[in-house]
Amino acid sequence: MSESTPRRIVIFGVTGQIGQELVDRLDESEWSVAELIGVASPDSAGTTFSFGGQDLDVVSEWPRLEGADLVFLCTRAVEALEVVRECLKAEVACIDLTGAVSGQDAVPLVFSAAAGAGQAPLLSCPSPTALAWDAVLRAVAGEGAVVRATGTVLSSAAAHGRAGVVALSEESIALFNQSQAPDPGPAGQGVAFDVLPSAGLARARGELARSFGPGPVIAIGAAEVPTFVGEAASVLVELDAPADLETLVTRLADHPLLEVVADGPGSRGLVAVEGELGGPVGPTMRDAAGESGVRVGRIEAEPSLAAGTAFRLWFTMDPLRIAADHALAIAEARLGPA
Ligand SMILES: NC(=O)c1ccc[n+]([C@@H]2O[C@H](COP(=O)([O-])OP(=O)(O)OC[C@H]3O[C@@H](n4cnc5c(N)ncnc54)[C@H](OP(=O)(O)O)[C@@H]3O)[C@@H](O)[C@H]2O)c1
Repeated sequence: MSESTPRRIVIFGVTGQIGQELVDRLDESEWSVAELIGVASPDSAGTTFSFGGQDLDVVSEWPRLEGADLVFLCTRAVEALEVVRECLKAEVACIDLTGAVSGQDAVPLVFSAAAGAGQAPLLSCPSPTALAWDAVLRAVAGEGAVVRATGTVLSSAAAHGRAGVVALSEESIALFNQSQAPDPGPAGQGVAFDVLPSAGLARARGELARSFGPGPVIAIGAAEVPTFVGEAASVLVELDAPADLETLVTRLADHPLLEVVADGPGSRGLVAVEGELGGPVGPTMRDAAGESGVRVGRIEAEPSLAAGTAFRLWFTMDPLRIAADHALAIAEARLGPA
């Protein structure tokens, strides 16, 4: 890796949650970076971000893209299409993390960076939800197939971007202080100490449909819980061929994105207050915060369906980490080791 050509990288949305995570992951990586340009909206003019031990200026005027090796697109989807057009015009490779083009069949949706990313000018990085569900369902199926997967995604305030996290924080403080509630944030209503039905799964559903085609029925509902980070899911998976629990656990443990967490205290090391109540169980959403990969636990056979054909499981992840790790892996597959 040390003999590679230093890259010139542009990140649109550098001040956002995913842009920031990408900068941090790039900084920790062995990538040789000649130049990193971070772009954000005019609201961020005059601010800086840190990379390689230096404070770099956030740019609000769009930079010249000609000559760049790669653009990472981490704005909201509404701003993304214009950037995509500029990248295509400048003939610069672009990895879109926003989902703006993930429904376009002409744009490769890269679930497996290891399988190679080809030379397409524009690549779409699946949402963390789709990446996690795809990995779990493929692992559970083994050589067979999933007939149906039914479950619920629990998302945090961070799913609404940095503004969602700020809103939850301000609402929580106002409730504790018994002061006037602030105006609702991007969820459109108060979220603190509440659970909202969520409608934000169109992107993940579409991406999973692209990945699996007309095969399994994948029926996902969603709720928004008042946590600051993380995403979790509870899912019932039905298989076409019976498997035993041990085989299922081995399949999950063998998948590179997944880590099976044994029943027992969560990884935060909590202990039971009362012995007979048993230990608190993981993996929790906080267990996954700041960690790579997807933690899978609570794997059990579903007794109401034919033996060996249906299993319940629970998984948690840090969506920002999952997306940033995957985008960097796609970039390496597209450009070669940097
Ligand atoms: N949150 C997640 O878990 C997650 C995971 C994977 C993918 N994604 C996707 O990644 C994208 C960003 O999500 P996020 O959570 O990071 O959102 P965020 O925290 O709200 O960040 C949005 C970013 O876009 C920038 N931006 C807004 N308008 C712009 C413009 N005209 N030109 C350039 N930059 C502009 C913002 O800059 P300012 O700071 O100046 O406003 C900020 O840097 C979304 O499309 C989301 O769907 C999110």
